[in-house]
Amino acid sequence: MKYTIAVIHGDGIGPEVVQEAIQVLDVIAEKYQHTFTYTPVFAGGCAIDAVGECLPQATIDACKAADAVLLGAVGGWKWDTLPGDKRPERALLGLRKELGLFANLRPALLFDALSDACPLKANIVSGGLDFVVVRELTGGIYFGEKGMKETPLGLAAYDVEQYAEEEVRRIAVTAFDMARKRNKKVTSVDKANVLESSRLWRRIVTEVSKDYPDVALDHLYIDNAAMQLIRNPKQFDVIVTGNIFGDILSDEASMITGSIGMLPSASLAHGNFGMYEPVHGSAPDIAGQNKANPMAAILSAGMMLRYSFGLIQEADDIERAVTAVLAQGYRTPDIYTAGMKQIGTQEIGQLIRSALTE
Ligand code: IPM
Ligand code: MG
Repeated sequence: MKYTIAVIHGDGIGPEVVQEAIQVLDVIAEKYQHTFTYTPVFAGGCAIDAVGECLPQATIDACKAADAVLLGAVGGWKWDTLPGDKRPERALLGLRKELGLFANLRPALLFDALSDACPLKANIVSGGLDFVVVRELTGGIYFGEKGMKETPLGLAAYDVEQYAEEEVRRIAVTAFDMARKRNKKVTSVDKANVLESSRLWRRIVTEVSKDYPDVALDHLYIDNAAMQLIRNPKQFDVIVTGNIFGDILSDEASMITGSIGMLPSASLAHGNFGMYEPVHGSAPDIAGQNKANPMAAILSAGMMLRYSFGLIQEADDIERAVTAVLAQGYRTPDIYTAGMKQIGTQEIGQLIRSALTE
């Protein structure tokens, strides 16, 4: 099979972890006789430096022309003082909207070999953690009307949280389809005790659930959900929620696995198109030092094979290779513990590639 992948290396550690992911894809291509063609494009801070804007039209066009997008990370101190609409992070929002990436999948997986890194008590996570946050990504307060107005109390700024039925329906369908392939449980998270938009959200999710009698549904308020994630995270299988609640819960979820450097993510459009990126940020403090953990980027490439290209065996191979290297005791600094073997970005990448061909 032949696929074109638009590659946004981005800022900070983005380039070095994407480099490892591409080399892993090349090993997969060789092993299974696929052809992956890479189209490198700019977005984020490096695009601001190169052409004065964080998301050039040429980047959007190249992404649309590709079968999938692989992204490292965007942002860094260098651009932190720019006004909100000029910051590198705007590139992410622009890509999500322009590419119609309404469904963000963020798996929270506690790798056996890393269970010591989990900050929760062992009895809370015994037997492991494996759930996924399905975050709505192109609606809600991120994209609602925003502005400023004069009020008697001074200048006021506002951002509107709004959800339309169809926006809720399609993300609910994504969540229920996913639950069907997993442990058949969906938890929908909202703030329906206060927000009108959440009451609509809850009504539509409940409607969609009628088509999935084999999947259990429950509803939690966001404050309770944030607490339950710490109290008893094993109760979750698929969590579906809106854009801003998903932003917050997915960071919390990654923290309780203890290894944000390990977690991949997928942002999916209708059909098979998707953008894949590690959950961690650009980590400018360690950029270019061969210290970054490339596993999240490599696992993101694996998600691309699974969700956009339907290459299940190939994706399983990547996950197995990562697990094997962890089991051998190799660690990047972010996940290092006493007694393990600390090595760098490129060495981890090399070991994963070797594990793929063993
Ligand atoms: C994320 C990030 C982004 C978001 C920022 C960088 C715009 O926090 O992908 O979770 O809020 O969606
Ligand atoms: Mg976030």
